[in-house]
Amino acid sequence: MTLQTVFAFCLALLLASPALAATDQPSIEVWKSPTCSCCGKWVEHLEASGFAVTANSATPSMLDRLKREAGIAEKLAACHTGKIGGYVIEGHVPASDIKRLIAERPDAIGLTVPGMPLGSPGMEQPNGETEAYDVLLVKKDGTVEVFARR
Ligand code: CU
Ligand code: CU
Repeated sequence: MTLQTVFAFCLALLLASPALAATDQPSIEVWKSPTCSCCGKWVEHLEASGFAVTANSATPSMLDRLKREAGIAEKLAACHTGKIGGYVIEGHVPASDIKRLIAERPDAIGLTVPGMPLGSPGMEQPNGETEAYDVLLVKKDGTVEVFARR
């Protein structure tokens, strides 16, 4: 190899390096029960969609307190709670909706999928059963509007 081809080869390796790509991954912090399997599957869904996830184990009372302090009322709550870019992400919110939220940056608390709808990310059923659900945008006054219909 000439010095020039060595240089070109190294540059190609550098550009292909996953470490470089990792630096522009959005990073989300998640609190969940360590024994909840649907929470674990939602975390895997985020990672597969390009998010860097930091997952924390939390007791039910810690999770309740976290949700109330974050402005998520009981009727809007689900299992796990996440935080990204100053927003709260409650429940089985699809990664694509989180990406849209952080791109559009609306004046709001965050997104929630209340309850745990069948077929939402992390709630896939062995028999393929799904149900329609809404991803809700929680406004700063606690009211909600539909962010996406799924
Ligand atoms: Cu769940
Ligand atoms: Cu969960």
